[in-house]
Amino acid sequence: MELIIDVEALGVDLDALAACSDDEPPGVTRLVYGPADLRARAYLRQQCDEAGLVVREDGLGTLFARWPGREPDLPAVASGSHLDALPHAGRFDGTVGVVGALEALRALRRAGFQPQRSLELILFTSEEPTRFGLGCLGSRAMIGSLTPDQLRQLRDGQGRSLDEWRTSAGFTAPLEEVALAPGAYAAFVELHIEQGPLLEVEGLPIGVVRAIAAPAALRVAMRGQSGHAGSVLMLERRDALLAGAELALAVEAAALGTGSRDTVATTGIFTIGPGAVNAIPNVATLEIDVRDIDLERRDHVLQAIKASTEAICARRHVTYDLIELNADPPATCDPAVVETIIKVCDRIGLPRLIMISRAYHDSLFMARICPTAMIFIPSRGGISHRADEYSDLEQIGQGVAVLAHSLAALSQA
Ligand code: GLV
Ligand code: MN
Ligand code: MN
Repeated sequence: MELIIDVEALGVDLDALAACSDDEPPGVTRLVYGPADLRARAYLRQQCDEAGLVVREDGLGTLFARWPGREPDLPAVASGSHLDALPHAGRFDGTVGVVGALEALRALRRAGFQPQRSLELILFTSEEPTRFGLGCLGSRAMIGSLTPDQLRQLRDGQGRSLDEWRTSAGFTAPLEEVALAPGAYAAFVELHIEQGPLLEVEGLPIGVVRAIAAPAALRVAMRGQSGHAGSVLMLERRDALLAGAELALAVEAAALGTGSRDTVATTGIFTIGPGAVNAIPNVATLEIDVRDIDLERRDHVLQAIKASTEAICARRHVTYDLIELNADPPATCDPAVVETIIKVCDRIGLPRLIMISRAYHDSLFMARICPTAMIFIPSRGGISHRADEYSDLEQIGQGVAVLAHSLAALSQA
């Protein structure tokens, strides 16, 4: 089948979505359910309508745009990603996989292809953890690993509930209906930017992901005692910031201590109060991200961080509350789907690298309910989660071509 990917249309979609942002270009900030996210969703819905896809949205706002196959009762084959973007992020993370899936379906339709299984684009709600402290909300809920009651307990940093956010964004369907029926999908393939340097370094246009690293996150809320910066003597202080600073260093040491380059740990959030130059900080809140491709080693680092928290806080007479926000196992991609993608690359003449994903994706969760794999395209300088994240439009087009051919192959039962 001769497939023509409309790279210009991809560029138009990427530009239109980058304009839905609360940041100055080239930065993109698009927090889930905020005005920019709702504008981006409206754009996508319109494109799905124009492409002739049948759209539904679940109670969280995850969007499903389906091209019914010749045998619509068979489990479908799906592709998609997210549109939400963390503060001062770039325009490609997630978005490439959404517009890429859309263009893959458009190209297959233009080519006169008739899928046997239905093909579907999925726009996952809230892959980024920014608003609610937990990433991949849409996919976790779809596979039933987040229950409606757990969803109802989620709050943003100001205490506003996910339920309030989603209903005021217009997503009012019952949360009880978000979990998918078993066997809903025959396969899932996500196209994504690599967010790392390997493809560029190797000079290869396509990565085929065979496994996704295991992410975890902790929130540690420390409470000491405030007081006058002039009159409280050093030995009498219970400074929460200093306990937090020690913990951030302990996090780094725990990751380095495994001796493996595959262990990474980050204190990405560190807030203190009361926030006056002449008052001793009495509260410190840290959010800590830990990842590894080896689950046992990742969990060992989590234990080391918990032990450090206990020891530091005891020594500094600071109390703390530690919550494990998530601790997910790694995912192994499905060998048959990986093989399908490799065969497509070989057939259309695109050299590829078989690799692991150190970033997490909704695929981490989709892999628990159906055969799943991912296609990566190069990220300039390996940069991501930054405004200067960049991927070349032609290379995005090549990723879309691999995706479209793969979806076509998978859709034939
Ligand atoms: C996804 O955004 C991740 O943090 O890996
Ligand atoms: Mn991201
Ligand atoms: Mn992403």
